[in-house]
Amino acid sequence: MTADLVLKNGWIVTPEETVKGGVAIANGKFVAIGTDDSLPPAKEVIDVKGGHILPGLIDAHVHFRDPGVTYKEDFGTGSTAAVCGGITTIIDMPNQIPPTENAEQVAVKKGIGEAKSLCDFAVLGVVHQTNADDILPMAKAGAIGYKIFFGETIGNLPFPDDGMCIEVFSNITKSQVPLCVHAENRQIQHYWTNKLKAEGKNAPIYWEQSRPALCEAESIAHVMFMAENFGTKLHIVHASTKQAVQMLKNAKRRGLRFTGETQPHYLLRVASDMADVGPLLKMNPPVRTKEHQDALWEGLLDGSIDMLATDHSPHTLEEKGCDINGKMSKPVIWDCISGFCGVETAVPLMLTQVNKGRMSLNHYVKVASENPARVWQMYPKKGAIALGSDGDVTVVDMDKEMTIDPNKLHSKNKPTPWGGWKVKGVPIYSIVRGHVQMRDGEPVGKVIGQMQLPILS
Ligand code: DOR
Ligand code: ZN
Repeated sequence: MTADLVLKNGWIVTPEETVKGGVAIANGKFVAIGTDDSLPPAKEVIDVKGGHILPGLIDAHVHFRDPGVTYKEDFGTGSTAAVCGGITTIIDMPNQIPPTENAEQVAVKKGIGEAKSLCDFAVLGVVHQTNADDILPMAKAGAIGYKIFFGETIGNLPFPDDGMCIEVFSNITKSQVPLCVHAENRQIQHYWTNKLKAEGKNAPIYWEQSRPALCEAESIAHVMFMAENFGTKLHIVHASTKQAVQMLKNAKRRGLRFTGETQPHYLLRVASDMADVGPLLKMNPPVRTKEHQDALWEGLLDGSIDMLATDHSPHTLEEKGCDINGKMSKPVIWDCISGFCGVETAVPLMLTQVNKGRMSLNHYVKVASENPARVWQMYPKKGAIALGSDGDVTVVDMDKEMTIDPNKLHSKNKPTPWGGWKVKGVPIYSIVRGHVQMRDGEPVGKVIGQMQLPILS
């Protein structure tokens, strides 16, 4: 047999072990994994020169803004940034215009992704007050899951009230795909925002106080109560608090199918950084104190937090209310929009933490590839270097150093709080089903994205 692509002279990293060798891919699937001399001949052979061969990394939380908000980002630029950052599959959020709120809009997203994406992708449907009857049709149309925005955030999507939740949770459970939630309590965020404004506390440093830890924690407790009653698979996106970690830990101990993700910014930045970085670091929910950061690290290492994702959410600098260095152009933090780029910077940022000894590379592969694939029911098609799995690979050079340059990001708009950060550990190839989509940080592939469907047992 002749394979399409062989990667050799590397270290294959799985959650369990690191072994010397390479992989062969044919017709988009892994067909051989082992020592270099055991691999079949191939049309193309890449010597990865001692690099680490990881299962294709997954970013389960990005906002590619397509359709309707494409002046910020689109599926082409977003997926280019993804593969340049070492990501081979993304899950796209539903808060664009129109939102992904019915089967027809799931089909629209599928069409856009297939027409523009350099990486594979999956799509979430939003659930709100008036689309309970669209829940099952969205899953039928291929949605990988659902999202409810309990917090007020970009897109201003209404959330189902408590009465309606009884209807929507029951429908979501029937669909067998998970529900993810943006958990922030709107009453708490309104009360504290108004109070800070009334006191004239308008600087970036007050952003965290406008959405304090209990704003997130109360909302998580509420949604867990509903999800437990209905047996719903629940995923907490962008967990930012120690309370989130504790509640996920307790839920898992009790055998509930509740999962969570956190982001590099919650692991590497704290609320006081807002003073220097300004609106570039403004995000919902906000970055918090070291106490919360420590709890998130502990949760990521002990399995309470299942995965890393980015919440990649680009906006124009004008909307951000600052220049590329964070210097404010708007007088008050309230008028600066929340969200920033992340999909291209997360892998080097976290590999740097691996190099610093905060986490093994094996555990990184678990939280950045295997677990996202499992939680979103794409495993073992995605998230595994295994015979028959999709031939998705991220090759990383753990010795390569780089300084993050905002102007070199591939997104349409490039607000980032990571400008100037020195990283060690960089993705050098992104391979999607055997197609080389990125080499040395630059896009080299074609549009090949396929929408991923949940694998239901
Ligand atoms: O700050 C945020 N921005 N948080 C979100 O949850 C949404 C995101 C966006 O879409 O810009
Ligand atoms: Zn988000």
